[in-house]
Order: sequence, then structure tokens, then C-alpha cells
Amino acid sequence: MSALRWRSVNNHMQSEPEKREMFYEGKAKKLYSTSDPDLVIQYFKDDATAFNAKKRGTIEQKGVINNRMSELFFNLLERAGVPTHFVRRLNDREMLCKRVQIIPVETVVRNIVAGSMARRLGREEGEPLPRPIVEYYYKSDPLDDPLILADHALVFGWATAEELKKVDELALKVNSVLSEFLDQRGILLVDAKYEFGRYHGEVILADEICPDTCRFWDKATREKLDKDRFRRDLGGIEEAYQEMLRRVSPDA
Ligand code: C5P
Repeated sequence: MSALRWRSVNNHMQSEPEKREMFYEGKAKKLYSTSDPDLVIQYFKDDATAFNAKKRGTIEQKGVINNRMSELFFNLLERAGVPTHFVRRLNDREMLCKRVQIIPVETVVRNIVAGSMARRLGREEGEPLPRPIVEYYYKSDPLDDPLILADHALVFGWATAEELKKVDELALKVNSVLSEFLDQRGILLVDAKYEFGRYHGEVILADEICPDTCRFWDKATREKLDKDRFRRDLGGIEEAYQEMLRRVSPDA
């Protein structure tokens, strides 16, 4: 191949899709379309909300930390064979992602009793589960993301049986890869919320994986290193997010 031809192929592969209009703004992120219809830019904000936006605040540098941490986790998961929407991180607050159609079912995987499950079932927070529990929630702000059964998703057409089977398989795989990785860094993965999307007929992991969407406890002290510090007014929020990023960073 001539030098000229090589350069043009290389340029094409490196070329940055152009950022276009914002088409979605959520509580913690904005999404922009790009010149490539298959790609979007996910922008991470510092805004924090809890209890379906009834509580609002800002966590300094949260967007930067969540962008970087999601990149680390998505790379780890891709290496473990989990398909994700992550393409590459563009800068401090933006990552390039595949454009998916989000399945409106949030999947929570729990390893230790906490949060809404402790309240709903009257169990003590901190009780270890003999095996992970997978729960589904209907993604709906007006309804406060209610807990649902698989049958609700099937009957109301939110996901097909094949998609739910894939969601289960991927969610449990993600849980086991992340649990092991975090355990080596002195962190317990208590629970986490995952979102999946459809991409050219395939179900892939989307959204973000960070202290906003997971519960992380220090293994030795059981200190909370996640958004529960904001939800429960425990203080030390920025420090907890920074500490989590430090623990999962390759140079840690
Ligand atoms: O509140 P609950 O115990 O049901 O949360 C389970 C897990 O899902 C927690 O890690 C929480 O951070 C996450 N979650 C989330 N977004 C929601 C609800 C829960 O990321 N809307």
C-alpha cells in the first residue's frame, strides 16, 4: 500500500465524528447526536438527584469521575466478552458510544441486602445473599421506576423473552466480573443498576457504571463509597467518589 493510501485509511479510522444537536437531557447526562448515525456522545454532568429528583444537588467533579470510571469498567467488561455501547472516551466529560434503543427495563443485581430491598422486605441492610438476585424496574419517571415482574415486561411489550434472557445472562456476568475486580481492590459490590439497549439486533450494555448507579462498600470498614452518601446526607461525597476512582484506576 502506498504511503498516501495508508495515510487516508488511517485518517478515516481516526476521524472524529462531528458533535451535533443535544437530543436528550437526563438527570445526570446529556446525549448528543453525531455526524455518524450509529454513534452518540454521552456528556456527564455534576448534577445529582435522588428519590426521583425530589432531592437535588451538585457533586463537584462527579461528571469527570463517572466518565473515567465508566470507561474503566466498560473496557474491563469488553475484555471479559460483554458487549457494551462504549467506543472511547473523548475528553474529561464525554464518551463516544454506539446509538442504542434503550430497553425500558432497569436491571438491578444485588449481592448484599441494602436500599429499597431492605425497606421493602424488612431485611437488615448488610445481610449477604447466598446468590445474586436479579430484579427488574420499569423505567418511568412519572411512576418512580416501579419494581416489576418479567411478565409485565413481556405482556406490555417492553422487552421480548429472548431479550430478557440475554439481559439476565449479561447482568449476572457483569455482576461477577465487577465483583471479582472490586474485591481485589478492597471493595464490595453491594448492588448495581444496569441498562441495556438494542444495537443492530443485539442486546448490549449501555448507560454508565459508577457510584451513582452502584453501591460500593469498603470491605474492611464497610464505609459507603457511593451516592448513598448524598441520598442519606452522610457528607464526604466528593472524597468518596475520588477514593473509588483511585481504587479502580490501573495505577492504584
Ligand atoms: O434503591 P435501590 O436499593 O432499589 O437501588 C439498587 C441499586 O440501583 C443501587 O445501586 C442504586 O444506586 C441503583 N439505582 C439507580 N437508579 C435508580 C434506582 C436505583 O442507579 N433509578
